[in-house]
Amino acid sequence: MATKQGMELVDRDERGVDRAFRRDVLAGLAQPDKAIPARWLYDDAGSQLFEDITQVAEYYPTRAETEILNTRGPEFAAAMGKGRAVVEFGSGSSVKTPLLLRAIDPAAYVPLDIAGDFLRAAAEDLAQGFPDLPIFPVEGDFTRTVHLPQPAKTLPKLGFFPGSTIGNMVPRTAVDLLRSMRDTLSADDAQDAATAAARPMLLIGMDLVKDVSVLEAAYDDAAGVTGAFNLNLARRINRELGGDIPLDALRHEARWNDDFARIEMHLRTTRDITFTVSGETFSMREGESIHTENSHKFTRRSSYALLQAGGWTPTCRWTDGEKRFSVILAEASVLRSAP
Ligand code: SAH
Ligand code: AVI
Repeated sequence: MATKQGMELVDRDERGVDRAFRRDVLAGLAQPDKAIPARWLYDDAGSQLFEDITQVAEYYPTRAETEILNTRGPEFAAAMGKGRAVVEFGSGSSVKTPLLLRAIDPAAYVPLDIAGDFLRAAAEDLAQGFPDLPIFPVEGDFTRTVHLPQPAKTLPKLGFFPGSTIGNMVPRTAVDLLRSMRDTLSADDAQDAATAAARPMLLIGMDLVKDVSVLEAAYDDAAGVTGAFNLNLARRINRELGGDIPLDALRHEARWNDDFARIEMHLRTTRDITFTVSGETFSMREGESIHTENSHKFTRRSSYALLQAGGWTPTCRWTDGEKRFSVILAEASVLRSAP
């Protein structure tokens, strides 16, 4: 068993409630257009529901990305080399990770996720298959600065950000995240930081724009698993923040927003409601919604533009056989004078 003592970067109150969760929910519900950051969809139940989503017929991204990871191992090995520390952002169940680890034979693995119990269980499972690999799980919000545990700090690093989780961020937040990943992965402790071999790399999954009917079905599956995932956020608020949101008055909605090239998930009210959360009262009229998630979709150009804005230069790109999903390898851009 190579899993090391994990780190937890979460600020909890005396009752164990994540202070950032309470702050985001109360601020988001107080707005005229109600919205809650998508990261709060992932408590233990939400993480399990996401795993269930990956199995429904309509949700193609996991299958398409797995196809790429399964078939491109030799190319990954040639491009990335051995002995890196792999830092995975939003690792979840880490089910895709073995495909990468087997291909590139890394020296350490750091899975980073906001869902702590799920993260630790996944790290233990992964360790069974990689008994000699040091694994350092870190529980925390990857949008904040992350200090990597030793010895990952001193190794050349590969960021792994699969699943198109980058699409869950609006462009401004995505650019901030890409820049902070670049800082997290920079080899400032490495002996040979100036050499190309030590330059941080990022392997990132980015879902592609496609037919609206395919996209909307992927986020509103017939079995209602995505609906349950969305509604679980209200359930979590009621449980953790002493809320009384009437769940029977909310329905799941997933719709394509063409202006922003994204699927939006909402919880829409079927009647007027009044409820309390953490002692504060909120009202919603019938037909109003709480916006719970964006899932941006990309073209080759828009994915490259986003990566470049975040300080990463794309070097290779792969798609699945049906061209539904892309996986891109990027290198930390060298800062130089340019037009
Ligand atoms: N990488 C996996 C899981 C994707 S689901 C895959 O490709 O299948 C998105 C994951 O990101 C979840 O595990 C969720 O808990 C995590 N996550 C979402 N926002 C986060 C944040 N701000 N900080 C850390 N983890 C986050
Ligand atoms: C994790 N993330 C990339 C998923 C997505 O496709 O945006 C989350 C998800 N939401 C609904 N279904 C899946």
